[in-house]
Amino acid sequence: MLEKLFRKKTRVSSGSLIERIANVKCRDIPAHVAIIMDGNGRWAKQRSLPRIAGHHEGMKTVRKITRIANELGIKVLTLYAFSTENWKRPKLEIDFLMKLPGEFLTTYLPELIEQNVKVEMIGNFDELPNHTKNSILKAMEETKGNNGLTLNFAMNYGSRLELVEAVKEIATLIADQSIKSDDINESLIESHLMTAHLTDPDLLIRTSGEVRLSNFMLWQLAYSEFSFTDVLWPDFDEKCMLNAIEEFQLRNRRFGSIEGEGKA
Ligand code: FPP
Repeated sequence: MLEKLFRKKTRVSSGSLIERIANVKCRDIPAHVAIIMDGNGRWAKQRSLPRIAGHHEGMKTVRKITRIANELGIKVLTLYAFSTENWKRPKLEIDFLMKLPGEFLTTYLPELIEQNVKVEMIGNFDELPNHTKNSILKAMEETKGNNGLTLNFAMNYGSRLELVEAVKEIATLIADQSIKSDDINESLIESHLMTAHLTDPDLLIRTSGEVRLSNFMLWQLAYSEFSFTDVLWPDFDEKCMLNAIEEFQLRNRRFGSIEGEGKA
């Protein structure tokens, strides 16, 4: 199915893209890829369009990258769609960003289901508008039995807030004497993060030339490989995704160990 799509829609020769996919799949595929989708505003500005037009185009990139991630056998794709800091943006832009999950899921849910994709979310759910909550809940419910790619939206997510919440939960367990302070270790902390059910990202991609984490998965990215690209998110395509995965496959991951003794 992807092959047909690539033949129709890609600017590079379809053969080379298909060959690259096949080659990439023969090597170590990152199980969890996290992406900071940046550059929508600049993409719109370059075309004298309102910022929201960039976000809308960015939504189409989400579809494209979800499809190729699934095709490559990536297990989890976490996308930073709205940070706890993004509430500082103009109301019109916030309202638009809050409507995007609804539009995306209304348009693409049937195709996500057909592709065996499971939709999940991390972030502060309660503060989202009801229409956003309802779209996400519906998609989660309708895809909960799927076991292909997990498409994990980080929505109203902030890593520091996540850590604060985890510390509060652990403090409560100590206060009610369910655990002792000596019981605190890395796996206990991990079990109180919003990503407790997921493995840590193997690869982080950030688009648009910015080289920072912006409060994204600070704990979980401790040993991830980073890939930064100048490409703006609406222009990020299958070819860019393959570039990042190929770059990852050339890295020597040592996890603090010495040559040849790392976990991967
Ligand atoms: C950062 O670019 C991007 C965001 C804050 C929003 C990201 C959202 C999407 C890509 C769409 C998400 C789609 C779904 C389905 C939830 P920016 O606006 O900061 O860009 P700039 O740095 O160029 O101004």
